[in-house]
Amino acid sequence: MEFYEVLNNRRTVREWSEETVGEDVLERILNAALRAPSNNHLRQWEFIVLRTAEEKECALQYVKEQAAVQAANLHLPEHTPEQKMYAYALPRQYSMLRDAPYVIIPLFRTNQALFKATAVNGLNAFASIWCVIENLFLAAAAEGLACSLRIPVGPEGSDVCRTLGVPEDYLMACYIGIGHPAEGAENPEQYTFTAKEKIHEGRW
Ligand SMILES: Cc1cc2nc3c(=O)[nH]c(=O)nc-3n(C[C@H](O)[C@H](O)[C@H](O)COP(=O)(O)O)c2cc1C
Repeated sequence: MEFYEVLNNRRTVREWSEETVGEDVLERILNAALRAPSNNHLRQWEFIVLRTAEEKECALQYVKEQAAVQAANLHLPEHTPEQKMYAYALPRQYSMLRDAPYVIIPLFRTNQALFKATAVNGLNAFASIWCVIENLFLAAAAEGLACSLRIPVGPEGSDVCRTLGVPEDYLMACYIGIGHPAEGAENPEQYTFTAKEKIHEGRW
């Protein structure tokens, strides 16, 4: 697939077909993810891969509760694309991961300084894992697949890491479901912009 076609085809999907995804495909996607730029040259990234129902149940046990908290606390203007997206996405936070052929948990090495950052460079390890994640999304799109994405809320991330035996100096960035989109999977309306609308020549 041509690169710009990949960019335009990438979308977040929350409903999956029954079609499986080969291990070789998953490996290609994760190899592409590992080509991302690295803040300290060390590529201190790891992936937990969840395949079986048991593995998913164990790792995703905290999702339902926190998604309900999120839903209760969310107040958005009605009839806007973002309100419609949340109304569609929030009830699917668990199923969009459980039903995906694979769930990937990207982990990055950091320390508590991340949470005390006083300048953006203090967030470098965090920024770097998001480069990894975008590579993963684009590689999945190039394979004709799609991804779901959830950010752990409140204590969810540390609960998952403890349950999965992640070393204390690693944090999870998110959960990613990978699979073939279901036929007719909803594609929430987006705001779209062109570069011309966003460019400030010389200064804002
Ligand atoms: C930093 C970040 C956090 C996100 N968190 C969630 C999430 O917790 N749950 C979810 O269902 N989607 C999440 N999304 C996906 C967005 O809803 C989605 O990217 C957005 O609606 C645009 O749609 P698109 O990815 O199809 O272009 C997140 C996306 C980003 C970039």
